Amino acid sequence: MPDKKMREKLRILIVDDSTETLEILQRQLNAAGYAARVAPGVAEAIGILEFHPVDLVITDMKMPRASGLDLVRYIRQNAPDTEIMIMTAYPCIEGAVQSVKDGAEDYLTKPFTNAELLAAIERIREKLALRRSAHAAAAPSPTFGIIGESPAMRAVYALIDKAASTLVNVLISGESGTGKELVPRAIHYGGDRASAPFVSVNCTAIPDTLIESELFGHVKGAFTGAKESRTGFFQIADGGTIFLDEIGDASPNLQGKLLRVLQNKEIHMVGSSHLRKVDTRVIAATHKDLRSLVSKGLFREDLFYRIDVIDIPVPPLRERSDDVMILMNHFLAKFSKEMHREIPEFTDSALMAIRSHSWPGNVRELENLVQRLMVVVDSGRIDVADLPPALRGQIPAKTWRARPLAEVEAEHIDNVLAEVDGNKTRAAEILGIDRKTLRLKLKRAGRLENPPEE
Ligand SMILES: Nc1ncnc2c1ncn2[C@@H]1O[C@H](COP(=O)(O)OP(=O)(O)OP(=O)(O)O)[C@@H](O)[C@H]1O
Ligand SMILES: [Mg+2]
Repeated sequence: MPDKKMREKLRILIVDDSTETLEILQRQLNAAGYAARVAPGVAEAIGILEFHPVDLVITDMKMPRASGLDLVRYIRQNAPDTEIMIMTAYPCIEGAVQSVKDGAEDYLTKPFTNAELLAAIERIREKLALRRSAHAAAAPSPTFGIIGESPAMRAVYALIDKAASTLVNVLISGESGTGKELVPRAIHYGGDRASAPFVSVNCTAIPDTLIESELFGHVKGAFTGAKESRTGFFQIADGGTIFLDEIGDASPNLQGKLLRVLQNKEIHMVGSSHLRKVDTRVIAATHKDLRSLVSKGLFREDLFYRIDVIDIPVPPLRERSDDVMILMNHFLAKFSKEMHREIPEFTDSALMAIRSHSWPGNVRELENLVQRLMVVVDSGRIDVADLPPALRGQIPAKTWRARPLAEVEAEHIDNVLAEVDGNKTRAAEILGIDRKTLRLKLKRAGRLENPPEE
């Protein structure tokens, strides 16, 4: 049964050194309902494959610079899900046979008719559909909406799997915007508790006076205004999972209450002396370095050790640049659907700039960029000029010039500050320096009037 992906247009790349052949084939394939791109050589084909997902490559065998065989090998190593069909003239059929051994799916002997070409493509399309649906059935996505295939994300998936198969507490750490909030859901819905409630609590959002009542509930008349009894988060999540987001910002009062319930696994509602057992699995997340908060006396050590049984560090986007294009395609699809707009085309230099950006704001920054571009750019084509300045500066262009390190540093600091809306604490965290050092650097760069504090 073809899956949804397969019902969409099959994406084909045609590679041939004859522009005439390219034109004819592209016209024929587009007319037949496929989405066909063309490349006049192997190098150009690789350039396209790096940026665009392609289902099938149809390539000529003999080309002046690199041969079709080189392309077959490149694809087998770098895009194992892409199918390959070789076009060859009779005299070099041996090469075609070799290419099939190396991983091409099929070959067509030149000259061929349009009908022969379409029939061959249909055979491949069926195989692709079968393979994909078998793959989908064998391995249901363990990631629950978390996108990314980089080694760094695979390590996260392995930890999610491990956490899902146990009931121990989990601490998710990582910079702001890395996707920490997606992880607890993946753990909960991937484990035995999937049918029990998942309750998400933001530790910064509970007023200190209401902590007990919010966490553990209250009985009617427990305090002025308690007109009805109310169930607390821990009880709602009984048998399931409670997700404590921004745990690094929990007040000392909240930390104390959490420690007690984690130790005793029992609660009592405000206004009641009746102790109630709760079996709630705890997953916490923070962008702060809890260990250093512990050493500064700002976070309870005993609570830290209760939570940090399995530690899942979510890597920043700059450590998984392979995922940038995959995430971008994901967000393009998401926003185009939401906004009922066509997915825009990107010029290669715009893609290059996006790929080489360091993404200080992580996935959230990328998501915002895609959304902004889809709102702002009307032409359906996005070029470097449409990108925000911080990204435009990243292109390794001819504009490079030798200049002092201090100047480069100041520019980088400016970019990071711009990303976090001038929040110096966040900027210092991202830069990996303390606030005082940041202030000193800003002062030296003439960006700050007042001398550093202390
Ligand atoms: N791997 C991913 N796949 C799909 N979407 C992602 C991924 N990572 C992040 N996102 C999206 O990026 C945005 C930011 O992620 P999220 O809110 O989880 O960040 P966070 O790590 O909790 O950051 P903060 O510490 O600032 O709270 C969300 O809209 C989220 O859905
Ligand atoms: Mg968050």
